[in-house]
Amino acid sequence: MVKKKTVFVCQECGYESPKWLGKCPNCNKWNCMIEEIKSPQEVTFSNMKFSSTPKSINNIKSGEYERLDTGIMELNRVLGGGIVKGSITLISGAPGIGKSTLLLQTASNIAEKYGKVLYVSGEESEEQIKMRGDRLDSLSNDLYIVSEVNIDKIKAHIEQTKPVFVVVDSIQTLFKESISSAPGSVSQVRETSNDIMRIGKSNNISFFIVAHVTKQGELAGPRVLEHMVDTVLSFEGERTGELRILRTVKNRFGTTSEIGVFEMAGSGLKEILNPSAAFLEDREFQKEGSVIIGIMEGRRPILVEIQALVSETKAVMPRRTAVGVDISRLNLILAVLEKKLRITFYNCDVYVNVVGGLKIEGTFGDLGLALALISSAKSREIGLDNLLAVGEVGLTSEVRPVSFCDRIVNEAKKMGFRNIIIPDRNKEKVNSKDINVIGVSSLKEALNKVF
Ligand code: TYD
Ligand code: MG
Repeated sequence: MVKKKTVFVCQECGYESPKWLGKCPNCNKWNCMIEEIKSPQEVTFSNMKFSSTPKSINNIKSGEYERLDTGIMELNRVLGGGIVKGSITLISGAPGIGKSTLLLQTASNIAEKYGKVLYVSGEESEEQIKMRGDRLDSLSNDLYIVSEVNIDKIKAHIEQTKPVFVVVDSIQTLFKESISSAPGSVSQVRETSNDIMRIGKSNNISFFIVAHVTKQGELAGPRVLEHMVDTVLSFEGERTGELRILRTVKNRFGTTSEIGVFEMAGSGLKEILNPSAAFLEDREFQKEGSVIIGIMEGRRPILVEIQALVSETKAVMPRRTAVGVDISRLNLILAVLEKKLRITFYNCDVYVNVVGGLKIEGTFGDLGLALALISSAKSREIGLDNLLAVGEVGLTSEVRPVSFCDRIVNEAKKMGFRNIIIPDRNKEKVNSKDINVIGVSSLKEALNKVF
């Protein structure tokens, strides 16, 4: 009898070792090595059509991708204009955030427009999916549902149904019989997604794959999954709130800077075409520690409220908590305020929160964050009513210009702001009709004009 060869595989990164190890030498995680039977044949995988003769790069035709319209504008935007035919997209997010709902709506829209769509669920029975479907608007007759976890059977269903689009919910539930490890293990996830890639690429079928996230919010399963697929989307938001944000992490066919905003309603996810209004809902102006900032998400300006709470503490190590803001950005701003403006924070706990669950990237919000921190530290409200703040803060406390400032100013006008504080160097390029534009070149100047 042939002895089965086993290896220990890190469940976080896929690193293989012949021996058990307490800590993975590759990703440094503890207790993540699990024994798995080594698959007999090496996996050969390709997600592209190979041509055996090298060509000059100038002789290769670059065709525009054919895309499927999902019928959901916010999703189309995030994907760069719809789902590219034959592409594989991974969508991750915490449980209960609305992945299955979004994909059921998408699947039905595509079925209505392009023909058969197959929704494969390993998590819910057909009846459960139907129950969810009953809450949504009417679903297409061409939407086929199957509850299945065996990848070979799924393949047979696809060959029989011949869909244009397939949803797999979720990759962690699928398994291949020839591999002995449990569904969700690195080998199973790798092998089943390999199969999906092959089916998709060879038949020009687009796939959406749902993937779970770990408690830390990272994609569960091997990192290779992210490398293999064409697009990675992440669905975020506070589960208790209604707003949901769809973000691109990777996109072979478009930018990664766009976001889509949705609201979870009684009858499925609704698109929010004016995110600023949603993020600023129920807001009262002039609260201590609160400032509205303008940021760019892709090509779209969005206005959100940023809140800071600074409270004295006797702790040796004061707390620094940031939700929606990069913690190192917060520390940098605090250091500038301490050193250049002589405002003390070393004896204070500092909490920062972006209202509505949005995560801010880039430096657009620096000036607003600094003003919110000062407002809370000094227990003073912002003196100008209806104020919006935009600008990057540098290490010498200078306020630096940002790109697309004119678009943010226009959005501010649309949303009824009366005052906007922006970097001096942006001021000459913006249209100051209908709004009071205050240009500043340093934090000190901003402080004098605002408080
Ligand atoms: P679901 O799509 O199952 O989340 P996921 O697949 O990411 O785990 O959505 C779960 C939540 O959404 C659930 O708590 C119920 C809620 N929901 C609504 O509020 N309205 C609806 O129309 C639907 C279908 C779900
Ligand atoms: Mg689900």
